[in-house]
Amino acid sequence: MSDQTAKLTIGEETFEFPVLNGTVGPDVIDIRSLYAKTGMFTYDPGFTSTAACDSAITYIDGDKGELLYRGYPIDQLAEKSSFLEVCFLLLYGDLPKKNELADFSNRVTRHTMVHEQMHYFYRGFRRDAHPMAIVTGVVGAMAAFYHDSTDISDPVQREIASIRMIAKIPTIAAMAYKYSVGQPFVYPRNDLDYASNFLHMCFAVPAEEYKIDPVVAKAMDRIFTLHADHEQNASTSTVRLSGSSDANPFACIAAGVACLWGPAHGGANEAALNMLREIGTVDRIPEYIEKAKDKNDPFRLMGFGHRVYKNYDPRAAVMQESAREVLELLGVENNPTLQVAQELEKIALSDPYFVDRKLYPNVDFYSGIILDAIGFPTSMFTAIFALSRTVGWIAQWKEMIGDPQKKIGRPRQLYNGVAARDYTPISER
Ligand code: SDX
Repeated sequence: MSDQTAKLTIGEETFEFPVLNGTVGPDVIDIRSLYAKTGMFTYDPGFTSTAACDSAITYIDGDKGELLYRGYPIDQLAEKSSFLEVCFLLLYGDLPKKNELADFSNRVTRHTMVHEQMHYFYRGFRRDAHPMAIVTGVVGAMAAFYHDSTDISDPVQREIASIRMIAKIPTIAAMAYKYSVGQPFVYPRNDLDYASNFLHMCFAVPAEEYKIDPVVAKAMDRIFTLHADHEQNASTSTVRLSGSSDANPFACIAAGVACLWGPAHGGANEAALNMLREIGTVDRIPEYIEKAKDKNDPFRLMGFGHRVYKNYDPRAAVMQESAREVLELLGVENNPTLQVAQELEKIALSDPYFVDRKLYPNVDFYSGIILDAIGFPTSMFTAIFALSRTVGWIAQWKEMIGDPQKKIGRPRQLYNGVAARDYTPISER
């Protein structure tokens, strides 16, 4: 709390509200008493100026293009850490000691299998079902299996549900991929690290040994880290709102998966690669730039722009570097899609329309190029985003449930419908 206050004058009356400040970032005006004092609501569709909670997990400075997980810059974590170490950091607040990481890794590893009955869920889907439709359903169904970790009032159950969710989401996502290509499910292996295990469950087949390329595994691990958490984005806010009703953690994460699927959010990685493929060659870029600028054309540059970043998304910078590394390793460094992406970025960032609106590439602009080069179909891109973001959703959910100030989320509205009127019998209509 600061000694500063915010004054609001309505007509003849002036109301005063406390200003709260955090460690870094914008201060907030505490308007919890606004309705009681003034009989008015604030109006902020899209929550562009609203802090819905206080949190100590992730900090974003959109103007500087800065992203910190528990204070550590994302580029340092992407270069020096590992996804499971980042999971520990996001969940418990500090980087683990060697024995803590080993214990955490072992706990996650030993929960990677799913109940055998869950295999039957997949059989109910069409083979061409979108993996996100499958993942949304199967994650929600976890509540039907893990009754011993759905009581959110019990911190022990909250912890086991968290570990189960983080451990099983790669298995669930890999099974969705295998089902879509008509191959048998591949069980997780306890001798593989998190990223290698996911690659193995996706690309191994019973007919031959699958060799994991360490560079590809590192790129996969880095993609997981870059997508792990991102403050109060749409899907995280969905998880928090779902959790505020004391819904079980699996239902909350399923709600987050559903929200992430939207092309304006996590679905943008799939849409961005499809857009780059549709553009096809560098000479067609100007035509698409004009479409993106045309208010009468619904087309937007997918993977561009961000509600918070009004500078280069720091994750996109790391992702672009990783794309070059992976494509070079795989011998496709002159990948036409990467060439189109880099030329599109260059042209857009010199065009006043994008510069004036501070539209830069975001995390989704380059990620699809790496995932495509590794061998994933575009339909799996958002499922991989959901896999990565599960730890962030869980960390934010745990923080909210553990907050003594927790209340059910219940926004109000500006009503502009019809005022009260009496029912008229059909004979008089
Ligand atoms: C993610 O919130 C998070 O943190 C999300 C995320 C995470 O990690 O959780 O970072 C992940 O969702 C990244 C964003 C992925 N989405 C896309 O790449 C889809 C394309 N981008 C846009 O749809 C858009 O930029 C949003 C949705 C991301 C942000 O939209 P805002 O903040 O509501 O901004 P806006 O739509 O009001 O746009 C401001 C202006 C508008 O023009 P004007 O009305 O001022 O003339 O910029 C224009 C928009 O038309 N604009 C674009 C554009 N994005 C915004 N024009 C063309 N192409 C675009 N991509």
